[in-house]
Amino acid sequence: MQSNPTDGPGQPLLSVRGIQKIYKVDAGEIEAVRNLTFDLRPGELVCLVGPSGSGKTTLLKIIAGLMAPTSGEVVLAGKKVTEPPKDMAVVFQEYGRSLFPWMTVRGNVELPLKNAGIAKGERNKLVDDALEAVGLAHVPTSYPWQLSGGMQQRVAIARAVAYQPKVLLMDEPFAAVDAQTRADLEDLVRSVWEKLGVTILFVTHDIDESVYLGERVVVLSSSPTVVQEDIIIDLPEKRDQLTTRSLPRFVELRNHVYEQIQIAKKNKGVANPAPVDPRVTVPHAAAAVEGLPPVSGVDVS
Ligand SMILES: Nc1ncnc2c1ncn2[C@@H]1O[C@H](COP(=O)(O)OP(=O)(O)O)[C@@H](O)[C@H]1O
Ligand SMILES: [Mg+2]
Repeated sequence: MQSNPTDGPGQPLLSVRGIQKIYKVDAGEIEAVRNLTFDLRPGELVCLVGPSGSGKTTLLKIIAGLMAPTSGEVVLAGKKVTEPPKDMAVVFQEYGRSLFPWMTVRGNVELPLKNAGIAKGERNKLVDDALEAVGLAHVPTSYPWQLSGGMQQRVAIARAVAYQPKVLLMDEPFAAVDAQTRADLEDLVRSVWEKLGVTILFVTHDIDESVYLGERVVVLSSSPTVVQEDIIIDLPEKRDQLTTRSLPRFVELRNHVYEQIQIAKKNKGVANPAPVDPRVTVPHAAAAVEGLPPVSGVDVS
């Protein structure tokens, strides 16, 4: 990553400040998002978890510069976002609609690089590296419709990664694939993040997925949405589906997130008073989750 006065240690790369979004509809107004404030530092992998309809896609579109907020601002590397920034890439849930069916896998991944005017030699290398990173080096001449859903989503991830964004936004990218594929793609996101050092904001409604993937989890309330809590996920950096998910600490953290979402549902739209450092560490003790109902396979949709 290029050095920049705003990229220093501890400095945020992406700042989301007081975002509110009110949609005007025929019947009046819908306040989808009330007050969202959080930061991403360079190289972080942060998950945003909240119920369906809590405004996650709304927020991502605002961060990506595709839609203006009603109030508040998004700042990327010291610059206010007012249009889609060059340094950002987005992976959406609907991979079927995000790839061009008449282009090969290679063509799809290469397109944004061509549009950015990157020379042929460098383009080829970036495409090769990205396809390798997502395990698709063997199908460059296939068409998206010849591939499974999971493989198509890998193409979308390769396209985003090849573009070398500073920030990668992912909006429930695995909601439409089967459980086994989803687990594989979760591991792919962790491995791409480790290998390439990209800063990732990953949106999901699945509590377990957010804890498994994130170094931090930002818990959202139901709409009108506020940040309920910003939790440090102090699990080992090397994660694997079997070991990590059976760690007592994983269960503790997942129960904590579940509890926070229940609290948020009761206090709809009421922001916690902003502490100096909003990130919290969940106490390491079985007592911390005492009294909570047992939960399994939880999502908050
Ligand atoms: N273009 C729109 N016009 C009016 N209301 C919208 C629009 N997009 C989303 N909403 C409403 O805003 C709320 C948040 O939606 P969304 O951002 O899609 O949530 P999520 O991604 O968390 O499921 C919902 O109540 C939804 O109906
Ligand atoms: Mg959504």
